[in-house]
Amino acid sequence: MRLTFTIQRFNPEVDSTAHPQEIRLDVGRGMTVLDALIRIKQECDGSLALRYSCRSAICGSCAMTINGSEKLACRTSLRKELERHGHITVAPLRNLPVIKDLVVDMASFWEKIRDIQPWLSPGRPWREDGSVQMEARDHANPQFHNVDACIMCGACVATCTVYEVSKGFAGPAALAKADRFLSDPRESRASTRARLSALQDENGIWDCTRCNFCVEVCPKDVKPMEAIVRLRRASLERGLTTTGGARHVLGFTDLVEQQGRLNEAIMPLKVVGFAPRGLLRILPLGIKMFFKGKIPNPFGHALPGLSHLQALIGRVRRTAPPA
Ligand code: SF4
Ligand code: SF4
Ligand code: FES
Repeated sequence: MRLTFTIQRFNPEVDSTAHPQEIRLDVGRGMTVLDALIRIKQECDGSLALRYSCRSAICGSCAMTINGSEKLACRTSLRKELERHGHITVAPLRNLPVIKDLVVDMASFWEKIRDIQPWLSPGRPWREDGSVQMEARDHANPQFHNVDACIMCGACVATCTVYEVSKGFAGPAALAKADRFLSDPRESRASTRARLSALQDENGIWDCTRCNFCVEVCPKDVKPMEAIVRLRRASLERGLTTTGGARHVLGFTDLVEQQGRLNEAIMPLKVVGFAPRGLLRILPLGIKMFFKGKIPNPFGHALPGLSHLQALIGRVRRTAPPA
């Protein structure tokens, strides 16, 4: 079968912007997008730049945007893409600077990983061979093993809606990596606390909007957003509650428990407190909401069935796993 591929090209030495190029190629059954790109490079245009190594979804280097979604080219079937989209378009990962064609600069990705200090600070002694003893019960932590599956492909960062507008954001891969060390039973208590404290800052765990895109694209089922939720829960359980994000979660829960619903008149006060600077910041929004009739009576009646809801919340609190 002869197929037309639309490939985003960009050569910084001659192009001012990226542009699509159409290339036709005879393809066979069972080919992946990476197989096709390698053949295009070998048979049609040797100047095409792409990155790959293992061809087996192990090294993470062939992540790119295929038909608008972040995927590993080596495990993306041409046939399935055609069945689903009717065409094949290939572009580099988003949110990262393009070096040439399909090759992106991963420097900022690695910086974020390095910033979370991806190494063990054990609470147990190092052994002579440079390792730290794992105990039998340590192997029973599935979160630890799931996050450890990350192959650093960058797909989650490329799809992250927060990273798109805020390049300072630690990003899903780095935060998942932080969770991996937090979940490591060998990590010392002091280090766990220090890790969590560092993640409270701007660009940390509370900046995630929980859009779930990182979970959808991850080829290794790492579920970075769930790792971020675990980090948030662990922070709250250790009393790290001074950030706006933490106060929002606690205020939201308090209100729902007390009134059975969110109360927009009180919620902002729960987040910014009564500090004059914070109040001044939210005042214009409060005035607008008031004139648009969006502020409910802060002392309104509780909703019917509130006692059932309170019992549910109490039960969840009692059965929540420890962080
Ligand atoms: S869930 Fe959070 S970390 Fe994941 S892509 Fe969305 S904003 Fe980014
Ligand atoms: S978390 Fe998943 S998508 Fe993100 S870098 Fe790791 S393997 Fe890739
Ligand atoms: S070439 Fe290694 S993951 Fe695709």
